[in-house]
Amino acid sequence: NRRVTVHDLALAKQRGERWPMLTAYDALTARIFDEAGIPVLLVGDSAAMVVFGYDSTIPVTLDDLVPLTAAVSRAAKRALVVADLPFGSYQSGPEQALASAARLMKEGGAQAVKLEGGHRVTPQVEALTSAGVPVMGHIGLTPQSVNTLGGYRVQGRGHEAAETLLSDAKELERAGAFAVVLECVPARLGAEITRQLTIPTIGIGAGPDTDAQVLVWQDMAGLSPKVAKFVKPYSDLATQLRNAATSFADEVVSGVFPDEQHSYA
Ligand code: KIV
Ligand code: NA
Repeated sequence: NRRVTVHDLALAKQRGERWPMLTAYDALTARIFDEAGIPVLLVGDSAAMVVFGYDSTIPVTLDDLVPLTAAVSRAAKRALVVADLPFGSYQSGPEQALASAARLMKEGGAQAVKLEGGHRVTPQVEALTSAGVPVMGHIGLTPQSVNTLGGYRVQGRGHEAAETLLSDAKELERAGAFAVVLECVPARLGAEITRQLTIPTIGIGAGPDTDAQVLVWQDMAGLSPKVAKFVKPYSDLATQLRNAATSFADEVVSGVFPDEQHSYA
């Protein structure tokens, strides 16, 4: 019943075992996913959108993410907790990346961090890794760069773009990353990068052949109002929650709730 480690994830790739990852931003959901056996929980900077209501991940800060990470870490007993380094918390260089990662680990209780980018962030990955911080890379559609990518669209189409992503992935592996997220790339490229890397790949919109799959939990559970093509909703929480709120409201207005059963004599 010990906690999942980056070593376990390396072994899973050697054994050809696929595994799931979900985002989490609070204690109750982290506990449910942990009990469901999800081995890796990501406190994503997607919190910017699904928790804080921004329309991109750019505005969210380390101060925003640290308490969410702490909540997830307190609740998850077995899952490896990975926290995103938000935009502006690592781009300045290795020292900034280390200071930011230290906050997510010391105050947030995370066991690993994730950052976006390939070649341009390998000095950060090297510094973090040699300081004992496991690093997850993230390439392809990197939402913190939405303003240079020109929108949320498939990346790595065409030979040159595919080669660039493959070499970014290899550079991250060489720099010491323990895994790499591939977001929104053609399935064939997802498969090719997965084949060429020793470390596990985690796909989101990267086809069926990556070593692992990740989704934002609100997308996975049908709570998000609109989702990308790569999302499969496994529940319809938006409808269920709306119905629950409507029933509660109706019963309060009509006086049905609270009844004797829910009152103190
Ligand atoms: O922030 C996030 O949720 C992520 C995952 C989608 C990989 O980075
Ligand atoms: Na993210």
